Amino acid sequence: MDFLSALGTNDLRELENCLAQSISEDSFIKEICAPLIVGGKRLRPQLFFLCSGDAAPAKKIPLATALELIHTASLVHDDILDSAKKRRGVATINSAYGAQIAVLVGDYLFAKAFQLVAEGDYGSRVSEILSRLVKNLCVGEIMQDRALFAVPTLSEYYTRINLKTAFFLSTCCRLGAIVAERDDMEIENLAAYGENLGLAFQIVDDLLDFFGEENLTGKILGGDIKSGVITLPVIRALNQSGDAETLKKIIAQGNVSGADVQTAIKIISETDAAAYCRTRAEAHIDCAIMSLPDSAARFALEQIASFVINRKR
Ligand code: IPE
Ligand code: IPE
Ligand code: MG
Ligand code: MG
Repeated sequence: MDFLSALGTNDLRELENCLAQSISEDSFIKEICAPLIVGGKRLRPQLFFLCSGDAAPAKKIPLATALELIHTASLVHDDILDSAKKRRGVATINSAYGAQIAVLVGDYLFAKAFQLVAEGDYGSRVSEILSRLVKNLCVGEIMQDRALFAVPTLSEYYTRINLKTAFFLSTCCRLGAIVAERDDMEIENLAAYGENLGLAFQIVDDLLDFFGEENLTGKILGGDIKSGVITLPVIRALNQSGDAETLKKIIAQGNVSGADVQTAIKIISETDAAAYCRTRAEAHIDCAIMSLPDSAARFALEQIASFVINRKR
Protein backbone atom coordinates (compact mmCIF):
# COMPACT_ATOMS: atom_id res chain seq x y z
CA MET A 1 0.00 0.00 0.00
CA ASP A 2 1.41 3.40 -0.89
CA PHE A 3 1.60 6.44 1.36
CA LEU A 4 -1.62 8.17 0.23
CA SER A 5 -3.79 5.08 0.45
CA ALA A 6 -2.48 4.32 3.95
CA LEU A 7 -4.05 7.54 5.28
CA GLY A 8 -7.60 7.36 6.68
CA THR A 9 -8.20 3.78 5.66
CA ASN A 10 -11.86 3.48 6.68
CA ASP A 11 -12.92 6.61 4.86
CA LEU A 12 -10.99 5.48 1.82
CA ARG A 13 -12.66 2.06 1.74
CA GLU A 14 -16.08 3.70 1.79
CA LEU A 15 -15.01 6.13 -0.89
CA GLU A 16 -13.96 3.26 -3.15
CA ASN A 17 -17.34 1.57 -2.65
CA CYS A 18 -19.23 4.75 -3.39
CA LEU A 19 -17.11 5.43 -6.49
CA ALA A 20 -17.70 1.91 -7.80
CA GLN A 21 -21.43 2.32 -7.20
CA SER A 22 -21.48 5.70 -8.93
CA ILE A 23 -20.53 4.16 -12.26
CA SER A 24 -22.61 1.01 -11.99
CA GLU A 25 -26.10 2.30 -12.89
CA ASP A 26 -25.42 1.95 -16.60
CA SER A 27 -23.53 -1.04 -17.99
CA PHE A 28 -21.75 0.88 -20.80
CA ILE A 29 -20.61 3.64 -18.41
CA LYS A 30 -19.43 0.98 -15.99
CA GLU A 31 -17.48 -0.89 -18.64
CA ILE A 32 -15.81 2.28 -19.91
CA CYS A 33 -15.09 3.92 -16.57
CA ALA A 34 -14.11 1.02 -14.31
CA PRO A 35 -10.45 0.79 -15.46
CA LEU A 36 -10.06 4.55 -15.23
CA ILE A 37 -11.76 4.98 -11.87
CA VAL A 38 -9.55 2.46 -10.03
CA GLY A 39 -6.24 4.04 -11.01
CA GLY A 40 -6.17 7.46 -9.32
CA LYS A 41 -4.08 8.54 -6.33
CA ARG A 42 -7.16 9.91 -4.49
CA LEU A 43 -5.26 13.01 -3.43
CA ARG A 44 -8.36 15.21 -3.53
CA PRO A 45 -10.65 13.03 -1.38
CA GLN A 46 -7.74 12.40 1.02
CA LEU A 47 -7.27 16.15 1.51
CA PHE A 48 -11.00 16.46 2.07
CA PHE A 49 -11.00 13.62 4.63
CA LEU A 50 -8.06 15.00 6.56
CA CYS A 51 -9.66 18.45 6.77
CA SER A 52 -13.06 17.04 7.71
CA GLY A 53 -11.64 15.09 10.68
CA ASP A 54 -14.16 12.93 12.48
CA ALA A 55 -17.32 14.36 10.93
CA ALA A 56 -19.98 11.66 10.35
CA PRO A 57 -19.29 9.35 7.37
CA ALA A 58 -22.70 10.24 5.89
CA LYS A 59 -21.51 13.84 5.68
CA LYS A 60 -18.15 12.92 4.23
CA ILE A 61 -18.46 10.08 1.73
CA PRO A 62 -20.88 11.57 -0.85
CA LEU A 63 -18.96 14.84 -1.07
CA ALA A 64 -15.54 13.12 -1.18
CA THR A 65 -16.86 10.87 -3.96
CA ALA A 66 -18.23 13.90 -5.81
CA LEU A 67 -14.80 15.56 -5.65
CA GLU A 68 -13.10 12.49 -7.12
CA LEU A 69 -15.79 12.19 -9.82
CA ILE A 70 -15.39 15.86 -10.78
CA HIS A 71 -11.64 15.35 -10.94
CA THR A 72 -12.02 12.23 -13.10
CA ALA A 73 -14.52 13.98 -15.38
CA SER A 74 -12.07 16.83 -15.84
CA LEU A 75 -9.33 14.35 -16.76
CA VAL A 76 -11.57 12.65 -19.32
CA HIS A 77 -12.22 16.02 -20.97
CA ASP A 78 -8.61 17.15 -20.55
CA ASP A 79 -7.43 14.06 -22.40
CA ILE A 80 -9.59 15.03 -25.39
CA LEU A 81 -8.04 18.51 -25.42
CA ASP A 82 -4.51 17.09 -25.11
CA SER A 83 -5.15 14.13 -27.51
CA ALA A 84 -3.68 12.02 -24.70
CA LYS A 85 -3.33 8.29 -25.27
CA LYS A 86 -2.80 7.05 -21.72
CA ARG A 87 -4.26 7.96 -18.35
CA ARG A 88 -3.74 6.16 -15.04
CA GLY A 89 -1.83 3.49 -16.94
CA VAL A 90 -4.70 2.61 -19.29
CA ALA A 91 -5.92 3.83 -22.68
CA THR A 92 -7.76 7.15 -22.45
CA ILE A 93 -11.47 7.12 -23.24
CA ASN A 94 -10.92 9.38 -26.26
CA SER A 95 -8.28 7.04 -27.68
CA ALA A 96 -10.31 3.88 -27.04
CA TYR A 97 -13.83 5.12 -27.87
CA GLY A 98 -13.42 8.49 -29.62
CA ALA A 99 -13.88 12.07 -28.53
CA GLN A 100 -17.68 12.04 -28.85
CA ILE A 101 -18.09 9.27 -26.29
CA ALA A 102 -15.43 10.86 -24.06
CA VAL A 103 -17.35 14.18 -23.98
CA LEU A 104 -20.48 12.35 -22.89
CA VAL A 105 -18.72 10.16 -20.32
CA GLY A 106 -17.14 13.27 -18.78
CA ASP A 107 -20.55 14.95 -18.68
CA TYR A 108 -22.04 11.85 -17.07
CA LEU A 109 -19.40 11.87 -14.31
CA PHE A 110 -19.99 15.58 -13.63
CA ALA A 111 -23.73 14.95 -13.41
CA LYS A 112 -23.24 11.98 -11.09
CA ALA A 113 -21.09 14.12 -8.81
CA PHE A 114 -23.77 16.79 -8.53
CA GLN A 115 -26.43 14.14 -7.95
CA LEU A 116 -24.48 12.84 -4.94
CA VAL A 117 -24.17 16.36 -3.58
CA ALA A 118 -27.89 17.03 -4.03
CA GLU A 119 -28.80 13.76 -2.31
CA GLY A 120 -26.34 14.50 0.50
CA ASP A 121 -28.21 17.71 1.37
CA TYR A 122 -25.09 19.82 1.73
CA GLY A 123 -26.91 23.10 1.12
CA SER A 124 -26.32 26.03 -1.19
CA ARG A 125 -22.92 27.05 0.23
CA VAL A 126 -21.34 23.74 -0.81
CA SER A 127 -23.10 23.75 -4.21
CA GLU A 128 -21.89 27.28 -4.87
CA ILE A 129 -18.28 26.34 -3.99
CA LEU A 130 -18.42 23.26 -6.23
CA SER A 131 -19.86 25.25 -9.12
CA ARG A 132 -17.06 27.79 -8.76
CA LEU A 133 -14.55 24.94 -8.77
CA VAL A 134 -15.83 23.56 -12.08
CA LYS A 135 -16.10 27.02 -13.64
CA ASN A 136 -12.51 27.88 -12.65
CA LEU A 137 -11.28 24.57 -13.99
CA CYS A 138 -12.98 25.27 -17.32
CA VAL A 139 -11.63 28.82 -17.50
CA GLY A 140 -8.10 27.56 -16.76
CA GLU A 141 -8.36 24.91 -19.45
CA ILE A 142 -9.88 27.38 -21.94
CA MET A 143 -7.06 29.88 -21.33
CA GLN A 144 -4.54 27.12 -21.92
CA ASP A 145 -6.30 25.90 -25.04
CA ARG A 146 -6.50 29.39 -26.54
CA ALA A 147 -2.76 29.82 -26.16
CA LEU A 148 -1.45 26.54 -27.55
CA PHE A 149 2.08 26.72 -28.99
CA ALA A 150 2.49 30.22 -27.53
CA VAL A 151 4.83 30.88 -24.62
CA PRO A 152 2.95 32.22 -21.61
CA THR A 153 4.47 34.80 -19.29
CA LEU A 154 5.21 33.59 -15.79
CA SER A 155 2.12 35.40 -14.61
CA GLU A 156 -0.08 33.79 -17.29
CA TYR A 157 1.33 30.37 -16.36
CA TYR A 158 0.47 30.97 -12.71
CA THR A 159 -3.05 32.19 -13.50
CA ARG A 160 -3.61 29.01 -15.45
CA ILE A 161 -2.31 26.56 -12.86
CA ASN A 162 -4.15 28.40 -10.14
CA LEU A 163 -7.46 28.07 -11.95
CA LYS A 164 -7.07 24.51 -13.22
CA THR A 165 -5.33 22.85 -10.26
CA ALA A 166 -4.59 24.93 -7.15
CA PHE A 167 -8.17 26.05 -6.74
CA PHE A 168 -9.28 22.40 -6.82
CA LEU A 169 -6.94 21.27 -4.04
CA SER A 170 -7.81 24.37 -2.05
CA THR A 171 -11.52 23.60 -2.48
CA CYS A 172 -11.06 20.05 -1.18
CA CYS A 173 -9.50 21.44 2.00
CA ARG A 174 -12.11 24.20 2.32
CA LEU A 175 -15.02 21.77 1.94
CA GLY A 176 -13.50 19.35 4.45
CA ALA A 177 -13.14 22.20 6.96
CA ILE A 178 -16.72 23.34 6.30
CA VAL A 179 -18.14 19.85 6.82
CA ALA A 180 -16.16 19.64 10.09
CA GLU A 181 -17.66 23.02 11.12
CA ARG A 182 -14.25 24.55 11.74
CA ASP A 183 -14.09 28.32 12.39
CA ASP A 184 -13.56 30.79 9.54
CA MET A 185 -9.88 31.32 10.29
CA GLU A 186 -9.15 27.59 10.16
CA ILE A 187 -11.14 27.25 6.93
CA GLU A 188 -9.10 30.00 5.27
CA ASN A 189 -5.78 28.61 6.53
CA LEU A 190 -6.58 25.11 5.27
CA ALA A 191 -7.70 26.60 1.95
CA ALA A 192 -4.38 28.50 1.72
CA TYR A 193 -2.53 25.25 2.43
CA GLY A 194 -4.46 23.56 -0.41
CA GLU A 195 -3.81 26.41 -2.83
CA ASN A 196 -0.04 26.36 -2.30
CA LEU A 197 -0.02 22.59 -2.35
CA GLY A 198 -1.87 22.75 -5.69
CA LEU A 199 0.62 25.18 -7.24
CA ALA A 200 3.48 22.89 -6.22
CA PHE A 201 1.52 19.86 -7.42
CA GLN A 202 1.05 21.27 -10.93
CA ILE A 203 4.66 22.50 -11.21
CA VAL A 204 5.85 19.00 -10.28
CA ASP A 205 3.36 17.53 -12.76
CA ASP A 206 4.76 19.77 -15.50
CA LEU A 207 8.29 18.56 -14.65
CA LEU A 208 7.19 14.92 -14.60
CA ASP A 209 5.72 15.41 -18.06
CA PHE A 210 9.32 15.78 -19.32
CA PHE A 211 11.36 13.84 -16.80
CA GLY A 212 9.01 11.30 -15.20
CA GLU A 213 8.70 7.56 -15.80
CA GLU A 214 5.71 6.51 -17.85
CA ASN A 215 5.09 3.37 -15.84
CA LEU A 216 4.79 5.52 -12.69
CA THR A 217 2.92 8.58 -14.01
CA GLY A 218 0.62 6.38 -16.11
CA LYS A 219 0.83 9.01 -18.87
CA ILE A 220 2.94 9.38 -22.04
CA LEU A 221 6.03 11.58 -21.61
CA GLY A 222 6.25 14.84 -23.52
CA GLY A 223 2.48 15.12 -23.85
CA ASP A 224 2.40 18.81 -22.91
CA ILE A 225 4.80 20.14 -25.53
CA LYS A 226 3.39 17.74 -28.13
CA SER A 227 -0.08 19.17 -27.64
CA GLY A 228 1.25 22.75 -27.51
CA VAL A 229 0.89 23.31 -23.77
CA ILE A 230 3.93 25.38 -22.79
CA THR A 231 4.80 24.95 -19.13
CA LEU A 232 7.34 26.22 -16.60
CA PRO A 233 10.31 24.00 -17.58
CA VAL A 234 10.06 25.33 -21.15
CA ILE A 235 9.47 28.92 -20.07
CA ARG A 236 12.65 28.74 -17.98
CA ALA A 237 14.72 26.92 -20.62
CA LEU A 238 13.75 29.50 -23.27
CA ASN A 239 15.12 32.10 -20.92
CA GLN A 240 18.35 30.30 -20.05
CA SER A 241 19.43 27.99 -22.87
CA GLY A 242 22.10 28.83 -25.42
CA ASP A 243 19.94 26.69 -27.72
CA ALA A 244 16.74 28.63 -27.06
CA GLU A 245 16.29 29.30 -30.78
CA THR A 246 15.96 25.57 -31.52
CA LEU A 247 13.41 25.18 -28.75
CA LYS A 248 11.54 28.25 -29.98
CA LYS A 249 11.41 26.79 -33.50
CA ILE A 250 10.09 23.45 -32.25
CA ILE A 251 7.25 25.24 -30.51
CA ALA A 252 6.52 27.74 -33.27
CA GLN A 253 6.08 25.10 -35.99
CA GLY A 254 2.91 23.96 -34.20
CA ASN A 255 3.52 20.29 -34.95
CA VAL A 256 5.87 18.60 -32.51
CA SER A 257 7.27 15.20 -33.52
CA GLY A 258 8.68 12.49 -31.25
CA ALA A 259 12.20 13.55 -32.25
CA ASP A 260 11.34 17.18 -31.40
CA VAL A 261 10.21 16.07 -27.94
CA GLN A 262 13.58 14.37 -27.39
CA THR A 263 15.42 17.49 -28.57
CA ALA A 264 13.30 19.65 -26.26
CA ILE A 265 14.02 17.34 -23.30
CA LYS A 266 17.75 17.52 -24.05
CA ILE A 267 17.72 21.31 -24.30
CA ILE A 268 15.71 21.68 -21.10
CA SER A 269 17.90 19.25 -19.18
CA GLU A 270 21.04 21.18 -20.14
CA THR A 271 19.67 24.25 -18.32
CA ASP A 272 18.78 24.88 -14.68
CA ALA A 273 15.05 24.57 -15.55
CA ALA A 274 14.39 21.46 -13.46
CA ALA A 275 16.16 22.90 -10.42
CA TYR A 276 14.36 26.21 -10.94
CA CYS A 277 10.96 24.48 -11.08
CA ARG A 278 11.77 22.46 -7.97
CA THR A 279 12.85 25.57 -6.06
CA ARG A 280 9.57 27.25 -6.96
CA ALA A 281 7.54 24.18 -6.02
CA GLU A 282 9.44 23.90 -2.73
CA ALA A 283 8.66 27.53 -1.92
CA HIS A 284 4.95 26.77 -2.36
CA ILE A 285 5.30 23.69 -0.18
CA ASP A 286 6.90 25.84 2.54
CA CYS A 287 4.01 28.33 2.27
CA ALA A 288 1.53 25.46 2.42
CA ILE A 289 3.07 24.09 5.61
CA MET A 290 3.23 27.55 7.17
CA SER A 291 -0.49 28.02 6.55
CA LEU A 292 -1.43 24.86 8.43
CA PRO A 293 -3.48 25.40 11.56
CA ASP A 294 -2.87 23.18 14.58
CA SER A 295 -5.12 20.17 14.30
CA ALA A 296 -5.07 16.41 14.61
CA ALA A 297 -4.49 16.25 10.85
CA ARG A 298 -1.49 18.56 10.82
CA PHE A 299 1.13 15.81 10.66
CA ALA A 300 -0.62 13.94 7.84
CA LEU A 301 -1.09 17.17 5.87
CA GLU A 302 2.63 17.88 6.25
CA GLN A 303 3.34 14.39 4.96
CA ILE A 304 1.09 15.03 1.96
CA ALA A 305 3.11 18.18 1.28
CA SER A 306 6.35 16.20 1.22
CA PHE A 307 4.70 13.52 -0.92
CA VAL A 308 3.71 16.19 -3.46
CA ILE A 309 7.23 17.56 -3.84
CA ASN A 310 8.87 14.12 -4.01
CA ARG A 311 6.25 12.26 -5.99
CA LYS A 312 7.04 10.18 -9.05
CA ARG A 313 3.42 9.31 -9.79
C1 IPE B 1 -3.79 14.95 -12.62
O1 IPE B 1 -4.03 14.85 -11.26
C2 IPE B 1 -4.18 16.29 -13.09
C3 IPE B 1 -3.34 17.38 -12.58
C4 IPE B 1 -3.81 18.35 -11.88
C5 IPE B 1 -1.93 17.40 -12.89
P1 IPE B 1 -3.54 13.61 -10.41
O2 IPE B 1 -2.08 13.40 -10.64
O3 IPE B 1 -3.97 13.79 -9.00
O4 IPE B 1 -4.33 12.41 -11.09
P2 IPE B 1 -4.78 11.00 -10.51
O5 IPE B 1 -6.08 11.21 -9.83
O6 IPE B 1 -3.73 10.48 -9.56
O7 IPE B 1 -4.89 10.17 -11.73
C1 IPE C 1 -4.32 19.42 -15.29
O1 IPE C 1 -3.38 19.65 -16.21
C2 IPE C 1 -5.59 18.85 -15.89
C3 IPE C 1 -6.85 19.33 -15.38
C4 IPE C 1 -7.02 20.37 -14.66
C5 IPE C 1 -8.02 18.57 -15.79
P1 IPE C 1 -2.57 18.58 -17.04
O2 IPE C 1 -3.05 18.57 -18.45
O3 IPE C 1 -1.13 18.83 -16.79
O4 IPE C 1 -2.94 17.19 -16.38
P2 IPE C 1 -2.39 15.81 -16.92
O5 IPE C 1 -0.90 15.93 -17.00
O6 IPE C 1 -3.02 15.59 -18.23
O7 IPE C 1 -2.79 14.82 -15.87
MG1 MG D 1 -3.48 16.89 -19.71
MG1 MG E 1 0.34 17.28 -16.83
